[in-house]
Amino acid sequence: MGARKKVTIVGAGNVGGTTAMRLAQRGYADLVLYDVVEGLPQGKALDLLEAGPVEGYDCGISGTNSYGDSAESDVVVFTSGAPRRPGMSRDDLLSVNRKIVEENVPEIVRHSPKAILLMVNNPLDPMAQLALVRSGLPKQRVVGQAGILDTARFRTFLAQELKVSVRDVQAYVLGGHGDDMVPVLSYTTVGGVPVQRLIGPDRLAQIVERTRKGGQEIVDLLKTGSAFYAPSAGVAEMVDAILLDRKRILPCSAYLTGEYGINDLFVGVPVVLGAAGVERVVEIALTVEEQAALHRTAAEVRRNVEKLNL
Ligand code: 2OP
Repeated sequence: MGARKKVTIVGAGNVGGTTAMRLAQRGYADLVLYDVVEGLPQGKALDLLEAGPVEGYDCGISGTNSYGDSAESDVVVFTSGAPRRPGMSRDDLLSVNRKIVEENVPEIVRHSPKAILLMVNNPLDPMAQLALVRSGLPKQRVVGQAGILDTARFRTFLAQELKVSVRDVQAYVLGGHGDDMVPVLSYTTVGGVPVQRLIGPDRLAQIVERTRKGGQEIVDLLKTGSAFYAPSAGVAEMVDAILLDRKRILPCSAYLTGEYGINDLFVGVPVVLGAAGVERVVEIALTVEEQAALHRTAAEVRRNVEKLNL
């Protein structure tokens, strides 16, 4: 094995392909793109490799239909699964995507027992929980991407509203990756100024609602699939934090064992993400309403997890 880190991306669809592209452009890891469809991961990997001379990256990129090639990965990004179509909720994907997780996760872990597993498919939080149980990995090494995406959408809409750079909008969207996710207004600032001093309550409520329905808005526009540019950007930020041991504080789906008063459940919360995976859950003080909203979304996640009979 070379000195460069190794990342396997499971699923060569839109999220998998764009994740591979973002990571290739970083150049710090060799990449393996896995898919069951013959030719698809090989074709996308070769195409990405051939962009290297122009883009200036020189990492290895290969495509495969065999988990043997994923052996000794440091991070495995799991994107496989059916996306939503118009009219479907993320929860409608539970029974289809559970099978995919159950068939693949044990294989991944058999070949890469030391990997950190980064889950991306929907319904996000229950799939992360399923992956934790089926992988047998410690809770620190299974984490889900959703909070960065949801927060990025919120930041985008706030920046548009105030006509400022997205870089100057700080926010947290916590809770389950569903329609009742929790944009935490008490920690949302623009250039350091609390957002509630800048935008009136009615308009802010509209922006929150658009954020909650952000995934649906893209599904309705695309008609044949769901978002992938912003989701893969969230994944890449998490892979950066892990492989570069950045100890970033990022909103991620993590397994809670009492934090925020929530037990034995994956829910989106701020975590310290570094080389060991979820190194710590960060407990920020929430208002009474925010805490109640977080518990409502956790109850919704738990209803779905119960359907999995784990
Ligand atoms: C989204 O929010 C598909 O859940 C994904 O766009």
